[in-house]
Amino acid sequence: MTWKITFTCLAFIFSVGRSSAQLKRDYTFNYASQKKVNCHNGAVVSAHPLASRVGTAILKKGGNAFDAAIATQLALAVVYPGAGNIGGGGFMVAHLKDGKNIALDYREKAPILASRDMYLDSAGNAQLHLSQDGHLAAGVPGAIAGIFAEMKYASLPFKKLIQPAIDLAENGFAITAAQAKALNEYRDEFLQRNGSPTAFTKDDPWKAGDMLIQKELSATLKRIRDKGQKGFYEGETAKLIVAEMQRGKGIITMADLQHYSAKERDALEFDHKKFHIITMPLPSSGGILVEQMMKMISEKKIAKMKFQTAAAVQLMTEVERRAFADRGEFLGDPDFVKVPVETLVSDAYLKERMKDFEPGKAGSSTLTKPGHIKESEQTTHFCVLDKFGNAVSITTTLNDSYGSKTVVTGAGFILNDEMDDFSVKPGVPNMYGAIGNDKNAIAPGKRMLSSMTPTIVLKKGEPYIITGTPGGTTIPTSVFQTLVNIMEFGMNADDAVNKPKFHHQWLPDSLYIEKDFPVTIQKQLEQMGYKVKPRSAIGRTELILIKRRSIIAIGDKRGDDDAEGY
Ligand code: DON
Repeated sequence: MTWKITFTCLAFIFSVGRSSAQLKRDYTFNYASQKKVNCHNGAVVSAHPLASRVGTAILKKGGNAFDAAIATQLALAVVYPGAGNIGGGGFMVAHLKDGKNIALDYREKAPILASRDMYLDSAGNAQLHLSQDGHLAAGVPGAIAGIFAEMKYASLPFKKLIQPAIDLAENGFAITAAQAKALNEYRDEFLQRNGSPTAFTKDDPWKAGDMLIQKELSATLKRIRDKGQKGFYEGETAKLIVAEMQRGKGIITMADLQHYSAKERDALEFDHKKFHIITMPLPSSGGILVEQMMKMISEKKIAKMKFQTAAAVQLMTEVERRAFADRGEFLGDPDFVKVPVETLVSDAYLKERMKDFEPGKAGSSTLTKPGHIKESEQTTHFCVLDKFGNAVSITTTLNDSYGSKTVVTGAGFILNDEMDDFSVKPGVPNMYGAIGNDKNAIAPGKRMLSSMTPTIVLKKGEPYIITGTPGGTTIPTSVFQTLVNIMEFGMNADDAVNKPKFHHQWLPDSLYIEKDFPVTIQKQLEQMGYKVKPRSAIGRTELILIKRRSIIAIGDKRGDDDAEGY
């Protein structure tokens, strides 16, 4: 999809005295999404062209993949405010050129004052509007702690990495048509959730090419530039967050902010055929689900079934059903609850799970329960590869679009509504229809279960695939399908990302398909007994594939996503 600047923007630029030659050079005004790039040195693929360009410029200046990732992430917090953030959290999976693999957890935490039943009314009914919108929905943000934990692997000074984001916030950038549409859609909610005007609303409707200027966010980013992590978790920014909480009955305190820390965890690693997969462990469910699904198909010779035949889709649907049944039952923050991870991904357990699989016949979520174990729409993904051999895969989120819609007054950034990823009440679905139990119940300082699945695949020890996507519970299935498309069906990178996807998450017992899913296959699946439901786009998968030293980077067709490289 290409996107070009409109006359509104030209008018703005001439009004501040720029020549048209300058205009052509100014990438913040005149840009388009590039969906595919072939290159040899390094690449960045993200949800917004300006962020991908910021990251690529850092690579070209000699920065490594971590430098570029940090600059891209901070730029996304400005140019992609629906999901890019400093008020949310995320996960990084990385492969270092020396062979080391890293998983970094900077997921939000429940505030100290949070409690198990905080979203239940006096009759015990779940009040989902409180876990999904407004001040009380926000978990303690982890994004800035994550970025400073990423700095351990960076090579350039932080000041250089944050400056492009400051400039974009301070001077503004031209928004895309999709962004104008989204800001108009959320206008009322922004007005409702915020006492004072924010950068995200104006009197007349937003149009493609309008400038989004975020002066307060720029001031916050400058405090982070000058004071480091303390520029967010202490001092002026922290005071503004706590004041915002007090305005709207939120519960994040100074102590929550001061005690927040990101955590390096052991990446989840497993082999599939000749590939080595590195992905995110708990508190994301994503890595475990992908490992379970890959192992459940591994003996079934899916490659012979061919891409998106009814047989292949049915098999993948049934493994998705079984993996998601386990998600709700067993998974939660490993710092708080015991999770039988080894059993859940063991060959014997997964073989048993697939015992009742019947080719050609729809399974049932009433009959398929979680396994027996005897043991006590908004997120964003980006991928970076550098010329040194470092690979970085990051998914970061505010939860749904524009998170809690609460902008910290005076600090200009949006707070997440990640508390809804906890199980607010056993059996009550969250905004993605995911259900859970005590393992994912709210407790002070606990991290809510996630589906985010930043993933890297190595072939002969070298980066081969870097991928990930937003999409709530559809994230693990999108990553699974993208990997199967390449590693089993031999599909090219472009098709692996852009061909229609499908999704089953155990409950509800429906098979969701994208609108361009082939009708003939849909009919065959219905004849097998599946309740097939067309739905909006599934994920926005970013992908870098490395083949014989040649790099192919793909930005998903489903959004403004953009691939850059050199
Ligand atoms: O962590 C999670 O699983 C969710 N908060 C992710 C939300 C998401 O992907 C929304 N994107 N469309």
